[in-house]
Amino acid sequence: MVETITIRRPDDWHVHLRDGDMLRDCVAYTARQFARAIVMPNLTPPVIDTQSAIAYRDRIMAAVPAGMAFTPLMTCYLTDNTDADDLARGKAQGVFTAAKLYPANATTNSAHGVTDMARLDPVFARMQSDGIILCIHGEVTEGEIDIFDREAEFIERHLRGIVSRFPELKIVFEHITTSDAVEFVEAAGDNVAATITPQHLHINRNAMLVGGMQPHAYCLPVAKREAHRLALRKAAVSGSTKFFLGTDSAPHTREAKESACGCAGIFNAPYALESYLAVFEEEGALDKFEGFASLHGPAFYGLPVNQERITLTRNGVDVPQMLQAAGSDIVPFHAGQRLDWTLTL
Ligand code: DOR
Ligand code: ZN
Repeated sequence: MVETITIRRPDDWHVHLRDGDMLRDCVAYTARQFARAIVMPNLTPPVIDTQSAIAYRDRIMAAVPAGMAFTPLMTCYLTDNTDADDLARGKAQGVFTAAKLYPANATTNSAHGVTDMARLDPVFARMQSDGIILCIHGEVTEGEIDIFDREAEFIERHLRGIVSRFPELKIVFEHITTSDAVEFVEAAGDNVAATITPQHLHINRNAMLVGGMQPHAYCLPVAKREAHRLALRKAAVSGSTKFFLGTDSAPHTREAKESACGCAGIFNAPYALESYLAVFEEEGALDKFEGFASLHGPAFYGLPVNQERITLTRNGVDVPQMLQAAGSDIVPFHAGQRLDWTLTL
């Protein structure tokens, strides 16, 4: 039996680091596991231009504990009024790594998102010519569309069109949750990839709805039925360079989750690698873990792989029921469970 696994230090290609006290108390969980992370811009107010991204990056760096090496990779929140020149300048200055498309009101702090996809074509054209990666929250928001169908519907209503109008634009279909998304990404060209979260590899929608409502299993896009989870697992461990790690770790206080209108988001940063590795082991694919966690992402983003190595050992870890952040309790993914692997630094 394999007892230790050493791989290049991974990166997280999708994380919510928040701001203020929550940023201060959560950033170290991500910095401990990952060398770099694509940082989501859905703050209040959102990070919509180069200037606000520089300021946010400074706040992140100020919150990283001394002695920890961590590089935040910033994203620009696209709106109906995004200034393509500013975005291109931000990319040229090394501020922006990617831009993020939230359909308006698809999820937490997305009220300023894009209301009319067609209006963004000039911005997509500029991103294509300037090599700026487009990260997409792929869900439609029309009220009549069932929440479990919103990702598949996004592919048909929007994504196919964007991909065919901009065949050179690099697109990350983020936190995919369906076999429809897996099939779409597999069939697309090399310019289309996807991230997969640990929760969507571990849970299906029963985790949210069976035995009482389980707010800590609620995130967006919501977990789907079992067949979709199995398709995601297959894609993640397949070795295909189109699929890579993106936790979508999204901390909310316990009160905000356990509420009559609970927030979407799962806080998986503290044990993200342990969680992913459990899946690769269950699937008999330990040899595919480094590609998914540490190689495919940098290759897609055109960035160097990390030189440093990390080791996980079969010591096991008991995930606490609760952690503390922003003066409140916060419940991590896998709370109260034992995971077989431990990241040893
Ligand atoms: O569950 C989610 N939480 N999905 C998102 O897209 C946003 C995130 C958040 O910011 O809380
Ligand atoms: Zn997210």
